[in-house]
Amino acid sequence: MLRSIPDSIFNLYKPVSRWESFYLRTRWRLCPFELIESSLPSRGRILDFGCGYGMLSNLLAERSPERTVVGIDLNPKRLGVALRSVAERKNIHFHLGDVEGLHPSPFAAAVMTDVLHHIRDDQVEILLRKVYRCLDQDGLLAILDVDRTPFWKFCVTFTIDSLLNPTDRLWYRPLRRIQEMLKSTGLKTEKVIPADHGLPLADVLLLCRKNRDPDPRGDIGKT
Ligand SMILES: C[S@@+](CC[C@H](N)C(=O)[O-])C[C@H]1O[C@@H](n2cnc3c(N)ncnc32)[C@H](O)[C@@H]1O
Repeated sequence: MLRSIPDSIFNLYKPVSRWESFYLRTRWRLCPFELIESSLPSRGRILDFGCGYGMLSNLLAERSPERTVVGIDLNPKRLGVALRSVAERKNIHFHLGDVEGLHPSPFAAAVMTDVLHHIRDDQVEILLRKVYRCLDQDGLLAILDVDRTPFWKFCVTFTIDSLLNPTDRLWYRPLRRIQEMLKSTGLKTEKVIPADHGLPLADVLLLCRKNRDPDPRGDIGKT
């Protein structure tokens, strides 16, 4: 709990403004990036959709040179900070874009940390289908998101989220609803891990596997 950001990751971002420094340090303490990293394959291409400042992307790339990490985010300011962190490294790439920018390409895994509740229902379904098509046949999707229970933890999480993302509209869903959306996309939830890492947060980590059968909904909703 409350682990501070390792120097090896923080230093990638230097020089940083005060706000960037505050955000990077606070975000690291709130989000169980190390738990997520250890749940993902140690080799192959990994998509970090909604990567923000790219801290998880950087951790993934740093922990294993056999990974190639692709981070995508639609926020130019955040993506700009992420791009600055790349320097000469070859196993990490960041792109400005959104769901439209996702094209079928083989990824061993995809990850979305605190992204789903920034996206409205109809867009989430489109996003999940696109991510599904980007995954290898046995590909893994890791989702960190906020459950609605316990209610007091949800309230704490909501307050922190609103302070860190004051201009964003947020769509929180019960865990059950997220699992339904995953299932209808053809993604099987293999594990649900409480991810509050000792903090009063309602975060859960879902590890989902692409079914071996083809996308059950075929081209419905294809964009
Ligand atoms: C709470 S931040 C999380 C950032 C990062 N995943 C992390 O864990 O630090 C949510 C991010 O999702 C991005 N996002 C929201 N909707 C998106 C979309 N449609 N396409 C790409 N990125 C999106 C936002 O710009 C923001 O950077």
